[in-house]
Amino acid sequence: MRKPIIIGNWKMNMQIADGLVFLNDLEKESYNIDVGIACQAISLIPMKEQAKKVLIGAQNTNDELNGAYTGELSVDLLKEAELDFCLVGHSERRQYYNESDETVNKKIKLLLEKQITPVVCVGESLEQYENKQTKEVIEKQIELALQDVDVKNCVIAYEPIWAIGTGKTATPEIAQSVCRLIRKKIASLTSVEIANKVRIQYGGSVNPENIKELMACEDIDGALVGGASLKINDFKKLISY
Ligand code: PGA
Repeated sequence: MRKPIIIGNWKMNMQIADGLVFLNDLEKESYNIDVGIACQAISLIPMKEQAKKVLIGAQNTNDELNGAYTGELSVDLLKEAELDFCLVGHSERRQYYNESDETVNKKIKLLLEKQITPVVCVGESLEQYENKQTKEVIEKQIELALQDVDVKNCVIAYEPIWAIGTGKTATPEIAQSVCRLIRKKIASLTSVEIANKVRIQYGGSVNPENIKELMACEDIDGALVGGASLKINDFKKLISY
């Protein structure tokens, strides 16, 4: 049985004090799923210090351990802050900051060495989707990201780029079929047993109205939520789907 995991990705939003109020409100309830928040770097320590149940994670880290990389955030600091997870390869990082499958793979390995869960994001563009290249693109991203990686300790997030922040959610059928494809690919790279343990999230315009249907899909074990994770009432509704 895979424990569902819903993570709010605040991206470059939310002031420190507002985030702490949000977290306090969120922690008043109890859930039998994993709930996480990925916030901006400066908020990570106060958030983690206050969190009792909610998992706290970074939105990115560097693929080198240390050195002259101005403006970057190292895995060692994430470890020192006792963070639970870190997003890797979000499409916004791939699109705007030239993140490659190779750096994604390096980051995953560094995070796993420090026992921080990588939340590995994959997804096809609108053009690739329309050209029916989804299978090929996703399989390649999975294969390269997970090369020589202990996959059972990763969470995978399938986020079609055309669904992120656009209000266009993939239908549960599309989301399920790609999440199934990802599980099959992981099985071919490792084993069916390992693939069946890996949690796979869907992300892209998830909201309180569509979460239930998405979570009912066999291979969808959670959600990575952007916009709807910024409003406490929406996020609470989401996690109690
Ligand atoms: P969205 O973002 O929910 O606003 O579409 C999802 C994400 O980028 O993780």
